[in-house]
Amino acid sequence: MKKFTLSATVAASLALFAGAATAQVTDALVVEGTTISTSAPAADWLDIDQVLSGWSFRTVETRALQMDDFDNPGMIFVDQAIDDWSTVDGTEGKSCSSCHTDGPEEFAGLRAELPRWDEAQGKMMNMEDYINLSRVEHMGAEPWKWAKPRMDAMVALISLQSRGMTINVAIDGPVADAWEQGREIYYTRVGQLDMSCANCHEDNYGNMIRADHLSQGQINGFPTYRLKNAKLNSTHARFSGCMKNIRAEPFAVGSEEFRALELYVASRGNGLSAEGPSVRN
Ligand code: HEC
Ligand code: HEC
Repeated sequence: MKKFTLSATVAASLALFAGAATAQVTDALVVEGTTISTSAPAADWLDIDQVLSGWSFRTVETRALQMDDFDNPGMIFVDQAIDDWSTVDGTEGKSCSSCHTDGPEEFAGLRAELPRWDEAQGKMMNMEDYINLSRVEHMGAEPWKWAKPRMDAMVALISLQSRGMTINVAIDGPVADAWEQGREIYYTRVGQLDMSCANCHEDNYGNMIRADHLSQGQINGFPTYRLKNAKLNSTHARFSGCMKNIRAEPFAVGSEEFRALELYVASRGNGLSAEGPSVRN
């Protein structure tokens, strides 16, 4: 995969990174009365002291959009998912609401634990997996494609139920191998720029990269509403975009590699709050 061996040091000397422009904000983010912690002590296996939400690195204007649900454009997609929640689909003639009679609120806390090992399924599951499990097995409907509007909106609706809850993703037991694989991917340099996730999100967070204030690349805020393309962005779509930016061939959305990476990156954010749908550039 590595065709060129331009090192990160070379990338730095090509002025990819510029010194810190502004210190990141560590204020609490309060939305509709819920306090969302945007910083937390890092796990002892991390080489950083503090984990910080991507919200802290955005401009005052972008941060403000996430402080009021009326201003948060991501909520439009949550509304679309509320419509889908009671839309009958599939051979069983059911909608989500036929079985999950307490509404999406039933899933409070779920987002904060995912991805996680599911004993009954015998595999690691993330939110898209659970939604499609229900669509296929319980509704007799077609699975939704990952990183597409209907799926991303439903992920946002269910994630919202955990807003403010502490991310607490398990990394041991049956997911230990996937976590190792994810860590390996995180630290492996790839692409024409020969960079790893860590080169930007661990070594250079707080610095500017072109016009962007680099964050720690946390996923506690996913799905995010991106001002850039005016729609929701899923975790795997973001991973894919970052890999393309360093001119690497991205893994496929939903692949084993991105699942492992999602577990690892999610666990780097343990202690932060679930924020989705958040607002980013
Ligand atoms: C016919 C009943 C039925 C329908 C309809 C249904 N589900 Fe489910 N769902 C279940 C059952 C049962 C489970 C528990 C896991 C299992 O046994 O598959 C579940 C589990 C889930 C979970 C994981 C919950 C957890 O805490 O582990 C999510 C998320 C979910 N469903 C979302 C949805 C969504 C979104 C829809 C509509 C697109 C939907 N479900 C439609 C029956 C249903
Ligand atoms: C060349 C630098 C660079 C590399 C390498 C890179 N990213 Fe990013 N990434 C960015 C920039 C720039 C942004 C947008 C600003 C920000 O949030 O940091 C971003 C954003 C993100 C976000 C969104 C954070 C949020 O709060 O919304 C995630 C998640 C992410 N990256 C994960 C990754 C992963 C995983 C890898 C490795 C596969 C990776 N990135 C590699 C530059 C990079």
